[in-house]
Amino acid sequence: MKVAVTFPIPEAAKVLLDEMFECRVWESDVPIPQDTLASWLAEVQGVLTTLTCPLGEEVLTGAQNLKVISTVSVGVDHIDIDFAKRQGIALGHTPGVLTDSTADLAVGLMLAVGRRMAEGDALVRAGAWSDGWKPNLLLGTDLSGSTVGLIGMGPIGQAVAKRLKGFGCHVLAWNRTPREVAGVEFTDLETLLSNADIVSLHTALTDDTRGMISRERLGLMKDQAMLINTARGGIVDEVALVEALATGRLRAGLDVYAEEPLPLDSVFRSLPGCVLLPHVGSATERTRRAMFELALANLVAGMQDEPLPAAL
Ligand code: DGY
Repeated sequence: MKVAVTFPIPEAAKVLLDEMFECRVWESDVPIPQDTLASWLAEVQGVLTTLTCPLGEEVLTGAQNLKVISTVSVGVDHIDIDFAKRQGIALGHTPGVLTDSTADLAVGLMLAVGRRMAEGDALVRAGAWSDGWKPNLLLGTDLSGSTVGLIGMGPIGQAVAKRLKGFGCHVLAWNRTPREVAGVEFTDLETLLSNADIVSLHTALTDDTRGMISRERLGLMKDQAMLINTARGGIVDEVALVEALATGRLRAGLDVYAEEPLPLDSVFRSLPGCVLLPHVGSATERTRRAMFELALANLVAGMQDEPLPAAL
């Protein structure tokens, strides 16, 4: 049986796959062109993929023998799920294993923006820290005791809430389907946005959440409030966010963007009050290994017509 792998994978994963299947691996860091992908998919029963490779109706239409799509990501906004399901293709992703790493990074961004860590690092490296300790140098804001609003209270949102309790934060939360989480006050979106010192996004990108943090909703946020995004860039109206950052009204810690990689001419790169990371929420050795293990287990199960360990 044949498998297509749409991105360069670690050697160990490749060895495992080669023992079981006839594999074709896209070895370049430049994303596989859609026409090449379509021709590969026409010949395989399984595909191992990730979020840099869009799998829309166009490329899936000719994938007549495809039994399983396994993505090395928890997010699945790069896949036309409805179409794949209509085609009877099993879908697997990697929930659970990246919860802690992503929650750690979200809290790290809250601290980095609030305590101006990137500015401090740049100052020291530039040799511009010339006159020692000064009472007014790089004054920031405390995470301790602040009010943090979490949008999306799935496993990652809950893991962030757990960490914030240690900082003595007042945690507000909004979730599409209301739920009870100890120590967390659930509110409507507008109340959350207008009361939080920090708003952190933990919802999937879907048709319902695209652009959800709109210009109007950004306008509800308090002056100097901070937006943290470790979810997906498309959830936010980035044009409106850029304007709010440019005037200094809001601050932000961003790990994800509507367009990735962030274009070289992106205005984000020149804005004050924000820390920019290159989509590394799940990027730890342990988590990445766990993601590959789960994705491979999903792939193998699908190839054998068995239930996937983490099916969508
Ligand atoms: C995911 O898994 O969806 C993250 O964005 C990358 O690990």
